[in-house]
Amino acid sequence: MTLTGAECRIFDDKAAVAAAAAELILQHAQTAIAERCRFNIVLAGGTTPTATYRLLADGQTDWSAWHVYHGDERCLPADDDDRNSRTADLVWLNQVPIPRQQVHPIPAELGAEAAADAYVPIVADALPFDLVLLGIGEDGHTASLFPGRDIPSGPLVIPVHDAPKPPPDRVSLTPAALCRSDRILLLITGSSKRDALARWEAGEDLPVARVAAGGNSVVLLDRAAAGV
Ligand code: 6PG
Repeated sequence: MTLTGAECRIFDDKAAVAAAAAELILQHAQTAIAERCRFNIVLAGGTTPTATYRLLADGQTDWSAWHVYHGDERCLPADDDDRNSRTADLVWLNQVPIPRQQVHPIPAELGAEAAADAYVPIVADALPFDLVLLGIGEDGHTASLFPGRDIPSGPLVIPVHDAPKPPPDRVSLTPAALCRSDRILLLITGSSKRDALARWEAGEDLPVARVAAGGNSVVLLDRAAAGV
């Protein structure tokens, strides 16, 4: 599979993708911590990365050097089970000794505009990231950057309304932030992503294609998503 702007690595199944992703993340962390005593990682939302996050809960690393950010967030109460930050907290971040002040959820409970405004200085202070994790939606979105929508080049974080994937109100980092990273790692599993991947492979200007092309991107996908 040839995806413009990204190296593709195909694995047998979701579990193999999760294992490879966890190993790559820990390797990136080790390198960044050795070089700069700090590892800035942006987490992907949705369900795909959950298996990877569970594996990271058992990872051997210097958690005190980790600084965790989110690529997007849904405008829901902070303790809502559908929040991207809550999933990562429950299966991983609450189980490892990362100093709490180094975990930076997007305050999306404030509403899209207020949360985006509040998160801009946090992102600006963290750039460049060491690693950005992303998923892909069935329509080719990534983070909360959806097809057919204007993706501004200036701001680092934007409010999103009327999102086609519920909830309608969201906050998202833009390519100006997501692409300012040493590495972008996209995790894609399941046959439901096959159509979006085919559109990406055909050269369609999808948000995921634009972000991947803007960075040093690697796609970890399973055979079901690749259709092989
Ligand atoms: C979200 C995510 C979104 C997600 C994709 C894939 O808030 O939903 O940020 O971009 O990564 O929609 O979602 P799944 O991994 O659940 O298929």
